[in-house]
Amino acid sequence: MDQIPIQEYQGAKMLPRKPLVFFVLLCVTTIGVFSRASWILTVYQDSFFPQNGSVCACNKCLMEYDQWLSERTKESPEPFLSPTNNISEDTFNWWKRIQYDRRNFAFYNKIVDKVFQIFPTKVNFTRSSPDLCRTCAVVGNSGNLNGSHYGPLIDFHDIVIRINRAPTKGFERDVGNKTTYHVMYPHSYRNLDNTTHLLFFPFKIYDLQWLIRFFTQRYVRVVKLDKIIVMILSPAFMKYVHQVWLKQKGRYPSTGFITLVLSLHMCDEVSVFGFGADKNGNWNHYYEPLRNKRLRTGQHPGKLEYQFIVKLHEQQKINFFRGW
Ligand SMILES: *[C@@H]1O[C@H](CO)[C@@H](O)[C@H](O)[C@H]1NC(C)=O
Ligand SMILES: *[C@@H]1O[C@H](CO)[C@@H](O)[C@H](O)[C@H]1NC(C)=O
Ligand SMILES: *[C@@H]1O[C@H](CO)[C@@H](O)[C@H](O)[C@H]1NC(C)=O
Ligand SMILES: *[C@@H]1O[C@H](CO)[C@@H](O)[C@H](O)[C@H]1NC(C)=O
Ligand SMILES: *[C@@H]1O[C@H](CO)[C@@H](O)[C@H](O)[C@H]1NC(C)=O
Ligand SMILES: *[C@@H]1O[C@H](CO)[C@@H](O)[C@H](O)[C@H]1NC(C)=O
Repeated sequence: MDQIPIQEYQGAKMLPRKPLVFFVLLCVTTIGVFSRASWILTVYQDSFFPQNGSVCACNKCLMEYDQWLSERTKESPEPFLSPTNNISEDTFNWWKRIQYDRRNFAFYNKIVDKVFQIFPTKVNFTRSSPDLCRTCAVVGNSGNLNGSHYGPLIDFHDIVIRINRAPTKGFERDVGNKTTYHVMYPHSYRNLDNTTHLLFFPFKIYDLQWLIRFFTQRYVRVVKLDKIIVMILSPAFMKYVHQVWLKQKGRYPSTGFITLVLSLHMCDEVSVFGFGADKNGNWNHYYEPLRNKRLRTGQHPGKLEYQFIVKLHEQQKINFFRGW
């Protein structure tokens, strides 16, 4: 499966660059980070969504009442699979059509059981709390990061989420060096250091089988399994993003967009970096020279996804750093 990265979207030229806004946002982000409270590791049972009232300790909380956003978030399922959070057959049938996998729900359940025999079942992220300000940087791979000097700003967030290949070594000045969560699926796999949690996005049963094979055969020799935290995105969350956010446009949402929606649920303040084209309108990665100008968005409704990012920025729900 060849996932088209989210930065390869049309419509990036909609936004003019505004250095002043950048500096204001920089200051706001800085203040936000200093006002954060300490980390709490919470377990899986508590309810996922803050309803209303003061939901976090930031100056401005993402989930503070907003009709547009709350209409979308209230329909969200638990984002991660766990032994007690399995999916319905209905959801399975939606998910199965993404990759045309013929194997049935019983087989899927057998594989999921096997996954949880191997991995610790804890899911490590902090739930929202009135005492906490969870600031997050969602870092895409766009070439617009090249020369941006965003590194220190990105690292300043409590949580840094990177996607697919996303190397940091040699690019620290522009992308930083901290990675709290690394989103991957088998084709984009790279080794992680022991401070990074794997956010695994399975697009088919084979991906879950890959996870089992990879971690039982190779990885275990390098790192002890009980030290690794693997969080597996629930197919139900993908379906939710597709149906509620994208109104079923495209065959399924892109990895980048799912990550962004996920961050709205894991963070109180979200800054988005490395999405969209570079200043010349090219859709390249910051870590490799431009090879071809591709404007296609493949299976994903890229333009719509990009417009959501812009809309969230305009509504001041997220900070969107457009790069250099
Ligand atoms: C949340 O809002 C509803 C009405 O919008 C109100 O009735 C309820 O008391 C609020 N709950 C909290 C915890 O503030
Ligand atoms: C789903 O999880 C529940 C426990 O939360 C369990 O009783 C049930 O058997 C699971 N269903 C499947 C199909 O695994
Ligand atoms: C959970 O994540 C936090 C922050 O990323 C980290 O400090 C903590 O060590 C993690 N806990 C476990 C059990 O890995
Ligand atoms: C990351 O960069 C900071 C400076 O920006 C440095 O202090 C730190 O040692 C670096 N960490 C790693 C793991 O390279
Ligand atoms: C993580 O790796 C570093 C070196 O890469 C090592 O010094 C450290 O002890 C490791 N931490 C854990 C918890 O394994
Ligand atoms: C990053 O920008 C520099 C300076 O403009 C350029 O020389 C370099 O090729 C760019 N790197 C990539 C990967 O495009």
